[in-house]
Amino acid sequence: MQRLTNRQIILGITGGIAAYKSAELTRLLKGAGADVRVVMTPAATEFITPLTLQALSGHAVHQHLLDPEAEAGMGHIELAKWADLILIAPASADFIARLAGGQGDDLLSTLCLATDAPICLAPAMNQAMWRNRHTQDNIAQLRAGNIGIFGPGSGAQACGDTGPGRMLEPVELAQLTAEQFDTGALAGKTVFITAGPTREALDPVRYISNHSSGKMGYALAQAAVDAGARVKLISGPVNLAAPARMDVVQVQSANDMLAAAMDGIASCDIFIAAAAVADYRPTAVSEHKIKKGSEEVMELHLVKNPDIVASVAALPGKPFTVGFAAETRDLLNYARSKLERKQLDLIVANDVSQPGIGFNSDENAVTLVSRDEARPLPQTSKRQLASQLIRQIAELYNRAQ
Ligand SMILES: Cc1cc2nc3c(=O)[nH]c(=O)nc-3n(C[C@H](O)[C@H](O)[C@H](O)COP(=O)(O)O)c2cc1C
Repeated sequence: MQRLTNRQIILGITGGIAAYKSAELTRLLKGAGADVRVVMTPAATEFITPLTLQALSGHAVHQHLLDPEAEAGMGHIELAKWADLILIAPASADFIARLAGGQGDDLLSTLCLATDAPICLAPAMNQAMWRNRHTQDNIAQLRAGNIGIFGPGSGAQACGDTGPGRMLEPVELAQLTAEQFDTGALAGKTVFITAGPTREALDPVRYISNHSSGKMGYALAQAAVDAGARVKLISGPVNLAAPARMDVVQVQSANDMLAAAMDGIASCDIFIAAAAVADYRPTAVSEHKIKKGSEEVMELHLVKNPDIVASVAALPGKPFTVGFAAETRDLLNYARSKLERKQLDLIVANDVSQPGIGFNSDENAVTLVSRDEARPLPQTSKRQLASQLIRQIAELYNRAQ
C-alpha cells in the first residue's frame, strides 16, 4: 500500500447498493497516504450521503457538471488533470454503458473523457445485469481501451440472487489500486528537507541573511514527493509558492530551523540540509530600531549559530544525513573534510564561483561526495538535477541499510 503515498485519486461512486462500501474504501485509500477527491453521480447520492464521503475524504464532494460555483473552484478539466488515477467503485451497469459509449452527460463520465490518468472500474450489479450481453460487450470494449476492470466477485447478492456481480471488498480494491502505481524509490520513507536562507534579526526591522533562493531545496522536496516519500519541508523566507502534497514549516532564524528540524526527527529516514543557514547571529537583538549615531564605524557582535546538520548527524539512531557544501575553491577537499567533521553520510558539493549555477540561478551542477566515492552530476535545471539527486540519495540510503 506504500505505493499510494501522495497519490491523487478520484474515487467515482455511482448508483448501486455497494455504494455504502465506498465509505470504507475512502478511509483505506486515505489511510495509505492518498489524497482522495470523491465524485458522485446523482443516483449515488440516493444510496449514501455526500456528507459522509466529505467527512472521510476531507474534501467537499464533487457532484454536478453544470455548476458555476463548482467550476469556479476546481473545475472539471482541472480535476481531470489533477488525478493520478480515477477509480469508479461501485460502477453501475448504466455507468459502464455510458463510459463505453463515450458519453459525457454527467460530471464523472466527463472527467473520464477529459483525463489522461488511468481509469479503473469495480463493477457491482445483479448477476443477470452482469451476464447481460450489452454489459458484457461494454466491458469487453472498455478492457480493449485499457480501462482496468477490478472483479466483480461472485456470491450472495443484496437482491437475494447468487452469482457474479458483487463488488470486490474495499481492502481488495485498495490493494489493486496500489498495484497500478510503480513503487517510488522513496515509497513510504519520511524525508525532512531544509531550504532557503535564514534571517538573523538585529532589531525589529533589520536582519542578516544571504542570497539563497530556496529553489534547490524546493525542487528536492518535490522530487522526493514524486518518489513516494512523506516530506517535511522546513523553509526559510523565500519567494516561492508553498508546494502541495507535503508538510511545509516556515521559519525565520537558524534557531527556529533547528527546532523545526528536531520536531519529529525520530520518524525521519533521510535528512537533507539544503538551507543556507547563517553561521552567526547578533549576540543580542535590539528591542527598538537602532538609530543612526555620530560614529563612522559601527561594530556588530556576533555569536555562532547551532550547526543544524551536524546536530542531526550526532543524534543516536540518526537519519541518513545529507549536507550541502557551497564552495568557491578546492571543492572536493572541503567537501570531504566537512563529511568527516560533521559525520554526514553524503555531501552535495557545488562550486558557487562558476557563473550561471548555484545561488539564485535556475541551473546547478554538483558532485555527490560520500566516504567511498565522488559522483559528478553535470549542469542542468535545478528540477532535473533534483530528480537525479533523489534517485542517487535513495540508492545510497538503501545501500547503507
Ligand atoms: C435499490 C436499487 C439498487 C440498485 N442497485 C444497482 C446495482 O447494484 N448496480 C447497478 O448497476 N444498478 C443498480 N441500480 C440501478 C441504478 O441505480 C440505475 O441504473 C442508475 O441509473 C445508475 O445511475 P448512475 O450510473 O449514474 O449512478 C439500483 C437501483 C435501485 C432502485
